[in-house]
Parts: sequence; structure tokens; C-alpha cells
Amino acid sequence: MQKFKDGFVWGTAASSYQIEGGAKDQGRGDSVWDMFCRQPGLVSDGSDGMTACDHLNRYQEDIDIMSDMGIHAYRLSVAWPRIFPAGTGKINQQGLDYYDRIVDGLLAKGIDPWITLFHWDFPTALYDQGGWLNRDSADWFADYAELITDKFSDRVKNWFTLNEPQCFLGLGHHSAEHAPGLKMTFEKVLQASHHALLAHGKAVQAMRANAKQTLNIGAAPVGLVSYPTSDDPRLIEAARAATFDIKRLDCFSNTWYADPMILGSYPEDGLALFEQFLPEIRTGDMEIINQPLDMYAANIYSGGALKLNDKGEAVADDLIGVGRTTMDWNVTPECLYWGPKFLYERYGLPIVVTENGMANCDWVHTNGQVEDPGRIDYVRRHLLNLRQAANDGVDVAGYFYWSILDNFEWAFGYQQRFGLVHVDFETQKRTPKSSAYWYRDVINSGGDIL
Ligand code: FCB
Repeated sequence: MQKFKDGFVWGTAASSYQIEGGAKDQGRGDSVWDMFCRQPGLVSDGSDGMTACDHLNRYQEDIDIMSDMGIHAYRLSVAWPRIFPAGTGKINQQGLDYYDRIVDGLLAKGIDPWITLFHWDFPTALYDQGGWLNRDSADWFADYAELITDKFSDRVKNWFTLNEPQCFLGLGHHSAEHAPGLKMTFEKVLQASHHALLAHGKAVQAMRANAKQTLNIGAAPVGLVSYPTSDDPRLIEAARAATFDIKRLDCFSNTWYADPMILGSYPEDGLALFEQFLPEIRTGDMEIINQPLDMYAANIYSGGALKLNDKGEAVADDLIGVGRTTMDWNVTPECLYWGPKFLYERYGLPIVVTENGMANCDWVHTNGQVEDPGRIDYVRRHLLNLRQAANDGVDVAGYFYWSILDNFEWAFGYQQRFGLVHVDFETQKRTPKSSAYWYRDVINSGGDIL
């Protein structure tokens, strides 16, 4: 029988801005997402994260729900402006106290907190000083990382620096779909990206230097996956190449971020393609960026399929009629076989799937239940692929369903529901969906009932 390895971590995830609310409470400073949401028309339903899931006040109820589900680990993010309202300098003790309560509350229920330091709520005060375009951003972030590690690493072992640099740089600084809503030149985007990579490296150094125990550290980039629709070796190699090659002037590649972090240099094809736009790279920068990491955290939701045409060439398979989520993302469970496999073969680090999940039109039915069989099938198919990858030799360490709660889905506001738990945003009532009960049973069986 196929099995996940002993110690496999069954988790779920969320991020500060998407669930906390209380954007002006308990001393929190402004973030670029607050700033973005204040501009009419940028978030499709006109909403913001001012209240979100009110997790700031209801965290204990949410921890209890996770506990009832038998969740092993919860991936949360810390809101940088809740700790440093101005990004640097004066510390907000109330912010530290809040995360203390969460960490202790989770541990009291046997749930391991895994912390992401930056999940996009960048302090507006630092944005006003140039944000990621200012090289000092690396030091601002490292100082923040140092403080958080100092306060929480006695109890928290697993850490991520940046969540999805591809998105906060590409969508945030190039296409203006996300905060801070900039359309910078590609040259500037690459400069900001370089600073974010430096921030990662300096943060890892600061974290290791201040750790109260040996830490597991990774970053959580988007895992972009192309996969073969048959096991023809030509197709497999074409899918691997498509997963790692840089072909366009945009931020959406695996290698522009992961290669410097893990292999110590920018990928050759990117350096060639981006030649006219390259950032200033100072002596020693690549060594700072290239810190030893303990895991490759991948956020993988969907993949691009490749098939062979009549001439034996690999071409995109349009997957006509394939299932789609309400985000309009294809349901392609193979991405959780090939993504972890390709990433493991290239980078050699244990793989943790730090995000995978689907948005669905869920509502509370007349019987009081939220039935979401589509989500159950989505997760089941993805986990079967992940388990197959593990059984084929990929070191797969864990899986975190995105997300525990329906929440503020960035530019889509509250219109996209990813949660295992339904949230009524009028009353804040939580209703575990049928997928939550199913996931509980999967966890209890160690995945055997898949
Ligand atoms: C990822 C983000 C996460 C959530 C999911 C659906 O890109 O990291 O915050 O929005 O997508």
C-alpha cells in the first residue's frame, strides 16, 4: 500500500491580511494592502481587509476548529506593520502579544505554528521610502526577521521568509493588479526583485543567528508547473524545460527566485533574456542570497499540460472542457506529482506543499451544512498525485491546504471562497464544510483512506 512517510505534516494555511481584520486595532500600522484597498475600483467587490474574518478577536475559535480537525500544523503569517507600525524602529508590544497568544494557543492544542514572515502586507511607511526599490529594504526586513525569531523561535521551528515573490513583485509592481499597484519598468521590477532576494538572504542569516533552536527555513515561492500528459521521455523533458526555462519578460518563473536562493546564481537563460534590464548586483550579493535552506516550500494550484503533436513536438494541451474552479483555474491534479518531482530533482530539498486548494461557490444550505464535494475531489486527486511522487522517491514532507477559512482573496475581495470552513462575513459565523470533516478523516488515517 502506498503511504506518506512517517512524520508527514498535515496542515492548513492562511495569511495575516486575509483573515485578521483589525487593521487599525492594537497599534497596527498601515500596509500597502490597506492603501490599495482604499483606492476605488482596485478590489473587484470594493471590499478590504479592515474586518476580514475578525481572526484578531476570534483566533481561539479558529484554533479550536483546527484542533477538532486534527490539523498537525498551521501556517500563519505575521503582519509586519503589526510589529513595527512604521516598518522599522518602534516596536508595537500589542502586536507581539497577539502573536504570542496565537502561538501559545496553537501549541496548547497540539498544533505546530509554521510562520511566514512576509505575506504581502508591507508597511506603508517603508513603501513611502521607496519600498522594495530601496536597497535598505533588505536590512529593514532582516531587522524585522531578527526580532520575530528572537521572540518566537523558542516555540516555532519552521519558518518561511517571503511568500510568492513572483506575485508581490509581478502583480504588485509590474501589472498593478495587487498592492502597491505599480506599473514599474521591467528594469525597476528586477531591481526590486534583487532587493527582495537580498532581504531573504539577510533574514535567513539574522534568523539563524538569533534562533533559540535549530530552525527549518525555506521560502514559499509560486510553484509554476508544466507537466506531460503521457510518460513519453521527450514529453517529460519538454515539461521539465517548460517548468524551468525563462521565456518572457515577466516575474513568473521558478528559477529567477529559487536559483539564486538555492544554487547561488541567476539562471543563464534569464540573464540573457533580461540583459538590458538587469539589476545592480554588488560584490557579495549572491553569497548573501544563497543561504542554506532546509526545505523547498511550493504553492501549487494548477499546471500547464503538454502533449506531443503529429511531428513529435511538445505543444500545449488546451485541456478543452477540463474542470475549472471559480478562480477559472484548471483542475490539473498531475501538477502535484510533477511539480514536487521536478523541483526536488533540481534543488534537492525536501518539498513541502505550502499551498494547494480551490475556490468554489459555497453557501450554507437549508440543512445548515456546507456541502463541497468538488473540493473533496480536488484535494483527493491532488493528494493521490503527491503520494505517488513520494512513493517514486520525492522527499515530500508535508501538505498545507489553502485555506482554513474563507477569506479576503486579494483583488477578488470576498468573492472567492477557498476555505475548509465557511465564513459568513455579515455575522462572522464559521461553518466547517464537508471538506473539513473529510480532511479530518484523511489526517486521522495518515492518508490511507484516499
Ligand atoms: C496564493 C496566495 C494566497 C492565496 C492563494 C489563493 O497566490 O499566496 O495568499 O491568495 O493564492
